[in-house]
Amino acid sequence: MPRFLCSLLLICLFVLGDYATVSHSQLKCKSKLKGVPVHPDDVEQIRFALNLEFLETDWFLHGALGYGLDKVEPALAMGGPPAVGAKKANLDKVTRAIIEEFGYQEVGHLRAITSTVGGFPRALMNLTATNFAKIFDDAVGHTLSPPFDPYKSTVNYLLASYVIPYVGLVAYVGTNPSIRGHVSKRLLAGLLAVESGQDAVIRTLLYERAKELVHPYNRTVAYFTSRISHLRNQLGGCGRKDEGLFVRKRAGAEGKTSSNILSADTRSLGYARTTAEVLSIVYGTGDESKPGGFLPNGGNGEIARGYLKRNDETIHI
Ligand SMILES: *[C@@H]1O[C@H](CO)[C@@H](O)[C@H](O)[C@H]1NC(C)=O
Ligand SMILES: *[C@@H]1O[C@H](CO)[C@@H](O)[C@H](O)[C@H]1NC(C)=O
Repeated sequence: MPRFLCSLLLICLFVLGDYATVSHSQLKCKSKLKGVPVHPDDVEQIRFALNLEFLETDWFLHGALGYGLDKVEPALAMGGPPAVGAKKANLDKVTRAIIEEFGYQEVGHLRAITSTVGGFPRALMNLTATNFAKIFDDAVGHTLSPPFDPYKSTVNYLLASYVIPYVGLVAYVGTNPSIRGHVSKRLLAGLLAVESGQDAVIRTLLYERAKELVHPYNRTVAYFTSRISHLRNQLGGCGRKDEGLFVRKRAGAEGKTSSNILSADTRSLGYARTTAEVLSIVYGTGDESKPGGFLPNGGNGEIARGYLKRNDETIHI
């Protein structure tokens, strides 16, 4: 009998101990969250990001696989038209694997955003080689001959990729201060983390090739990155928030490096851009009310459509 009691006690202690461990570890894994999960003011601000996420999804998926969202997860496009001109890029094996992963990550981002704040249809997107050629011409300040083809080689595709995720990154940094709900904040931080990771990988791959010439232009990879960053600063119209792979030492980390693998401010913090700046860049027009570039008919969602309406009103007056 005492032996039986003893075993019972041991079992009880074991079970209780186990419960204690479980509840302790569960507490450890859950942060205490205050306030509303998603504030009504968060909804359109987070949805706005879909414009960039759609762009990246089809850019990366097509580049790696030769097909895009319409094959992978058509429902997420919500009936929006397919991207014009997107196609499989001529990538080396390692880059192709990286870009494929990025493409699927973007699908995850679309799902995370739409399931949290709802979505809107994908806007018409211009991913033609001609659109990129125009951006590269604008960046270098003359017509490149032959026209820049983003799909032609690994280095060309990486340079073209340098154009997009960075804009998403600075947009998330810009949106963050006005987000109020804890679920919205968690979503935004998670998106920002992966976007900046993608940008870092792209920039590192380019950094390894920084001194190489981009065939047949007799210009280095580093040169193209500074020209693209310069163009984005011009289009954004709000000062220097974008830097190429090399900078003057005083603009580098702690004023001590001229290498600039990551673009960051004097405190090494990521730059922030408003939705209007972001659209000015993505439209390639320097004006959030004049669509063009990657989004020929403009972005979707209340924020992007709101800027366009302002333009319509001006025209009608
Ligand atoms: C895509 O951009 C190129 C270059 O600006 C332009 O010629 C072409 O018409 C655009 N396509 C669409 C569908 O807007
Ligand atoms: C290539 O560019 C370098 C420096 O920008 C210049 O010195 C050289 O003459 C150029 N070569 C050709 C073939 O244009």
